[in-house]
Amino acid sequence: MATSMTTSPQTHLLHQTHNSFLKTPTTFTPTISLRTTTTFKPISIQCAATTQPQTHTHDGPPQAQSHSSDRVFNFAAGPATLPENVLRRAQSELYNWRGSGMSVMEMSHRGKEFLSIIQKAESDLRTLLEIPTEYSVLFLQGGATTQFAAVPLNICKSDDAVDHIVTGSWSDKAFKEAQKYCKPNVIWSGKSEKYTKIPSFDDLKQNPEARFLHICANETIHGVEFKNYPTPKNQNGILVADMSSNFCSKPVDVSKFGLIYAGAQKNVGPSGVTIVIVRNDLIGNAQGLTPVMLDYKIHAENNSLYNTPPCYGIYMCGLVFEDLLEQGGLVEVEKKNRKKAEILYQAIDESNGFFRCPVEKSVRSFMNVPFTLEKSELEGEFIKEAAKENMVQLKGHRSVGGMRASIYNAMPLAGVEKLVAFMKDFQAKHA
Ligand SMILES: Cc1ncc(COP(=O)(O)O)c(C=O)c1O
Repeated sequence: MATSMTTSPQTHLLHQTHNSFLKTPTTFTPTISLRTTTTFKPISIQCAATTQPQTHTHDGPPQAQSHSSDRVFNFAAGPATLPENVLRRAQSELYNWRGSGMSVMEMSHRGKEFLSIIQKAESDLRTLLEIPTEYSVLFLQGGATTQFAAVPLNICKSDDAVDHIVTGSWSDKAFKEAQKYCKPNVIWSGKSEKYTKIPSFDDLKQNPEARFLHICANETIHGVEFKNYPTPKNQNGILVADMSSNFCSKPVDVSKFGLIYAGAQKNVGPSGVTIVIVRNDLIGNAQGLTPVMLDYKIHAENNSLYNTPPCYGIYMCGLVFEDLLEQGGLVEVEKKNRKKAEILYQAIDESNGFFRCPVEKSVRSFMNVPFTLEKSELEGEFIKEAAKENMVQLKGHRSVGGMRASIYNAMPLAGVEKLVAFMKDFQAKHA
């Protein structure tokens, strides 16, 4: 039978500075590892499963990438597909997390079990992205949309000039929100070319006084991705990137940025968690009107535990980080992503115009692949027929139409191969 655990709040942790958070990891040692098997009466849930769940050890890393026949290939732009082994691991731990006698959803965010979860998530993310020690990692809420306001509120004064590069809908939204909190200027916009390009950095007319330069590293709707990054002209300028849709899809030199933010729900977890990686010297100067929940200083000083964080989402992100490390880290992850993107773009480019991708080749996104059909009247049928083959969420964003295949980290190669085979088949039928 289970024995009760000591779950006294670790309030002292709240008074540590953000960088000491990782120096004193809370080690949680499960004391009752067999509890699920001895006391859990399983409830029978009817589902379409045709395969047996894989077995997992409770404390080993998640298993390698896999795909079961009872799951669809989900090409949604976000919330998006998650690694199957991570879902199974979460499933196995849902009812009783590692012998603690409770689900992660039921834990106090100040108890030692959850502290061990958030610390491990942060530490694994730091390893994955090689985040320098002078940066804080914050697990926040409100989505990347909230960061459109939080960024200017935290890192500039209301009359500071800032530069924005607008390469699609998301960077446009970031610019519009910034107008409320500083003096942003669009120094390049791809709007007139339907957001199919990234500018050459030499042509940028940067304001040498701009406090920061904002980019969206990957435009989820338009499928354009920065392959390298501009440097702010202002020597003290800060490069800020919305990396929501290519976060952890490849290695990134974090030291080039003052601030990176990303919603989790594309590559690293469920919706509800927003990750901010911010250089410490940029913390602590928020504008006076900044709501407490948007002030990075509050969150950094409290190790993302100022108020109740999205605990379960952070736990899921932690499992994904473990999985990415298990795959060999972001260098290996990028190789897989590159391969998936290459075979899909190749299928489009070799279709003699039957399929088309409007994005300039050198900046095509490895994550979101928009494409259209020459015979646009067939697009509805394409999406419907694909769904019949268990390939779902291929409809393009309502603002651009056509199709879009989001092929984030967790989309297996098999999913892209199946889509490509389907496209060839569809073309043979309709050309
Ligand atoms: C690049 C990018 N930035 C920002 C957002 C907005 O994120 P959220 O809905 O989490 O606020 C999205 C959402 O899809 C996105 O793709």
